Amino acid sequence: MDKLVITGNTHLKGEVTISGAKNSAIAILPATILVNGICNISNLPNISDVKISCEILENLGAKITWKNEHEITIDTRNVNSTEAPIDLTSKFRASYYLLGALLGRFGKSVVGLPGGCNLGPRPIDQHIKAFEALGAKVEVEQGKIIANTKKRLKGADIYFDMASVGATINAILAAVLSHGTTVISNAAKEPHIVDVANFLNTAGADISGAGTDEIKINGVKELKGNYSYSVVPDQIEAGTFMFAAVASKGDIVIKNCIPEHLDCIKAKIIDMGAEVTYENDQIHVIMNNDIKSTNINTLPYPGFPTDLQAQAGVCLALADGTSTINETIWESRFQYTSELNKMGAKITSQGQVATFEGVEKLYGTSVEATDLRAGAALLIAGIVADGKTTLYNTKYIDRGYEHIETKFKELGAKIKRVEISEDELIILN
Ligand code: EPU
Repeated sequence: MDKLVITGNTHLKGEVTISGAKNSAIAILPATILVNGICNISNLPNISDVKISCEILENLGAKITWKNEHEITIDTRNVNSTEAPIDLTSKFRASYYLLGALLGRFGKSVVGLPGGCNLGPRPIDQHIKAFEALGAKVEVEQGKIIANTKKRLKGADIYFDMASVGATINAILAAVLSHGTTVISNAAKEPHIVDVANFLNTAGADISGAGTDEIKINGVKELKGNYSYSVVPDQIEAGTFMFAAVASKGDIVIKNCIPEHLDCIKAKIIDMGAEVTYENDQIHVIMNNDIKSTNINTLPYPGFPTDLQAQAGVCLALADGTSTINETIWESRFQYTSELNKMGAKITSQGQVATFEGVEKLYGTSVEATDLRAGAALLIAGIVADGKTTLYNTKYIDRGYEHIETKFKELGAKIKRVEISEDELIILN
């Protein structure tokens, strides 16, 4: 187990290259189960969630060859199990995509209840509703979800009660090889949903409307392999560096991203006083001013993403005045605020609202990542704080950010990854 030791007071400056999107990659990998052939997938981020996804697929019978740290060929023709290994699926949330993919291909799937970041209750009733609409019977017993159908799934109209990323992708996965037409209304619109649809369409699926709130899927008999697909860049990683530039009063060129995916972040950091320019696949953020307070409301895409509110929170903790964040997706995502308060921030949170009284400085101390995005936020806080910050629970950050400390070090941050000694582990436990 590692910790990150950060020496602060750094103005980040330079260029950073964005990796492939975590939340796309961990949906596209199970989607390969639906393909009757071999495909080549590149721009995979080198993160632990991708490694676990590949391990699960191999366990089910897929053959994976790594071309380099970002690229695989995967042959899923010999996948012969419909039951995903529970010890691996319990490690991350996106294992729920195996339900839709295995059900779509074999008419049966058995997957352990998903694990992942500690974000409080994370229901999957909308996923189950979609499978049932398509004709499957779904049961939850002994920590497992079992979805079954005796006949080929049949296209249906599915209306979601809320825009759910996971349920939208799962409904697409289950419907792609079904008989007839499926229409998903109130679908989520995140860029990784478009990416999964593009991946499946490249293999011969007939999906239209991804990226809007109505998605239409005409079921096809088979998806064919022998093609290459590159995962879309990670807009959350790009947004993380945009807020890092603001918090550190830095100057960062963020390369290999799709700027339009970050329009709401651009608007928000301009409110905070930053200068932002887009050029092709690059975003340049310069922060020469004191941070201005502002208010944030998290929403499904194209609104402000919940996955960037903690990183934005570091900027608001240092802003000149009072700001609020209204978190409408995961209420328990304010756990990072008590860690930031240990560093001198003045944040109070109640229910889904946190209020930030801006302070002039944060001060280094020992803090703990409570989830992936909290970890990124605390890393940024350590980079800008006075003194030394020790960040524990790095396993959360490693789930979703590729080479994060190397990327920040190339921008001037002073970070060391240190193995936690046995003595320290005893004290921590
Ligand atoms: N919801 C339900 N029932 C459902 C599904 C969702 O009530 O069946 C609710 C959730 O409780 C939540 C809201 O709907 O309040 C939205 O949840 P959604 O299903 O969109 O989230 P998810 O698919 O579980 C993905 C990302 C999360 C990201 C959210 C929101 C993956 C693997 N995870 O989760 O990413 O926060 O969408 O954008 O794609 C992260 O990357 O750090 C992360 C947590």
